[in-house]
Amino acid sequence: MLRRGRLKPPTDEMISEYTSSMRADVRIFKPVVQINMAHIIMLAERRIIPEEDAAAILRALHELHERGVEALELRPELEDIHMAVEKFVIAATDEEVGGKLHTAKSRNDQVAAAIRMTLRKDLLEVQAALLELIGNLIALAEKNTRTIMPGYTHLQVAEPTTFAHYLVAHASAFLRDADRLSHALEQASSCPMGACALAGTSFPIDRMRVARLLGFKHILENTIDAVGGRDFALQTISALAISMVNVSRLADELVLWGSAEFDMIEMPDEFAATSSIMPQKKNPVVAEIARAKAGRLTGNLVGALAVMKALPQSYNLDLQDLTPLLWDAIDQTRDSLKAMSKLMGAIEPKPEVMRERAEMSFATATELADTLVRRAGLAFRDAHAVVGRMVARAVKEHKSPRALSIEDLQAACREILGKGISLTEKEFKEAWDAEKCVEARGTLGGPAPKVIKGQINQLRRAVKNREKLVRARARAIAKAETKLLKDVRRRVR
Ligand code: ARG
Repeated sequence: MLRRGRLKPPTDEMISEYTSSMRADVRIFKPVVQINMAHIIMLAERRIIPEEDAAAILRALHELHERGVEALELRPELEDIHMAVEKFVIAATDEEVGGKLHTAKSRNDQVAAAIRMTLRKDLLEVQAALLELIGNLIALAEKNTRTIMPGYTHLQVAEPTTFAHYLVAHASAFLRDADRLSHALEQASSCPMGACALAGTSFPIDRMRVARLLGFKHILENTIDAVGGRDFALQTISALAISMVNVSRLADELVLWGSAEFDMIEMPDEFAATSSIMPQKKNPVVAEIARAKAGRLTGNLVGALAVMKALPQSYNLDLQDLTPLLWDAIDQTRDSLKAMSKLMGAIEPKPEVMRERAEMSFATATELADTLVRRAGLAFRDAHAVVGRMVARAVKEHKSPRALSIEDLQAACREILGKGISLTEKEFKEAWDAEKCVEARGTLGGPAPKVIKGQINQLRRAVKNREKLVRARARAIAKAETKLLKDVRRRVR
């Protein structure tokens, strides 16, 4: 239909298929119909097309809206869904009337608007999935404020902490991810319609009116930017990729901790798979897939950046090839978050093993050094050397941390300082105790149970606020959609 004037009809099916976006366009079908509706209402209001023609076109669009994408011919030679919709409208009216549908608009502004409209709903869904994951993490944290576990640096046991403290760390990062997505959503929430091909139009259109009908508060003013910009997509994929990188860090720890070597969590059977040959195997497949998806998202981000890099303004068909990367980024992230959320709702820590790991690895050495500073008046650097020497001896003599006493500490003092110190056995034991150590870590944001409870409450409030915002945004979109349909129905009666 498009090639009637300038070009010969396409003869090579493979080439049509290669350059068409039809397959990916199914995702933007509904917004495309809505955009056409809003555009026609505006054209009629501005008397750019006659009311009767507008009514006939809206009748066809309404029928299409009711029948869904199945009513369309999705042949690749039509190039894309925009042309398929126009073809449907022309068939339902006639060339004389339906041929007016594309007055003062282009596929360039239309596709940019449709992507943004699809994306704003998708982003709300991803945000909701993130918030649910955070909710499950803090619910688990709440049950584990006294579950002692080793904290790691360099993947070497460092200091004792609690499982709650660890879970809240991940939850805090996920909350920032949710906020990044929220900002991406704001950036996507401006309407490009009216930019037409790139330079607007000489028809007296009302851009703000179309934007409002589609539930946008703002328009993208510069018409070149409106059709040529995809930074909102880059920002979205970037925020999604960061979020998946955060997911992969949690997932990787679950894989590690579920191994016999760590043995600190029990992976519920429904999140594991076995081997086709090794009967004993229980593989952490959900966590593995989630870990892998961070790689895929990184690929999507790099791919999208590469499409945009050095692309001249404004619209280039290259942009069409970026869109599927965006949808894949959304789908993979949403599903990963949902799966991880279920997993975190079911995972079981092994508190005895966690504690054992913390206590058998000299994790309280820092606390003992701090005690030497407080109780024996040592400078921290001296205390550090003394405790380090005690640990070195114990390691050399294969002595378990539990078997150490004040005598071992005094021996190290004599070696390092040339004299003993005044510290009681009780003070030594208290500093050496993982639970007491954690309880003493009352630093703002630290692992002490009463401190972590504060962090949990704060996170819970933050999640509630953001859930409210997500619901309000979803309601505003739904309201605009209902209102548009009502306007259309009034005009086609
Ligand atoms: N199929 C295109 C896309 O997805 C729509 C815009 C096409 N514009 C054009 N001038 N060929 O980006």
